[in-house]
Order: sequence, then C-alpha cells, then structure tokens
Amino acid sequence: MNDDQIVCLCFGVRRRKLVQFIRTRRPRAVSQLSDCFGAGTGCGWCRPYLEQLWSSESPESETLPDAQSYAEAREQYRERSS
Ligand code: FES
Repeated sequence: MNDDQIVCLCFGVRRRKLVQFIRTRRPRAVSQLSDCFGAGTGCGWCRPYLEQLWSSESPESETLPDAQSYAEAREQYRERSS
C-alpha cells in the first residue's frame, strides 16, 4: 500500500493523511482517527487497518493489502453486512 492509497474508502481518506494525523495529533485511542476526515465512521471495513496504523511504531511502514484486493474485500464485506 502506498501513501496515496485510500484506506477509508467511504470517506476517501488516504494513508498519507492518516499517518500525518497520527504523527501530529497523537490520538490516544484508535477511535480518534475519526477526526481525520471521518475515517472509520462509515461501513466499518477499514477499522482493523486504522488500528494497525494507529498501533504501529512506524505507521508509514505498515504492510497493508494492495488497493485492488482491498477494495474487492470491502465490497464483499458490505454485501455480507447488508
Ligand atoms: S471504508 Fe472506512 S468506514 Fe467504510
């Protein structure tokens, strides 16, 4: 996953924004990432990935799924949730 990849697909929040938010705002709980353009407050698919970034010592280095498989898995998640 590169810095331009969108992590929260519901709100179009890119990894770069999340990493910057984590570095500068130092959220004390992963739920506070919602203050970063609403990340995680839609379908909920991205929440485990938000937690992965938030809990990492080096969020910019975290390995996340490639964009296509990430988006496909989210669609499956949304279908199961509806
Ligand atoms: S992808 Fe982030 S809340 Fe839906």
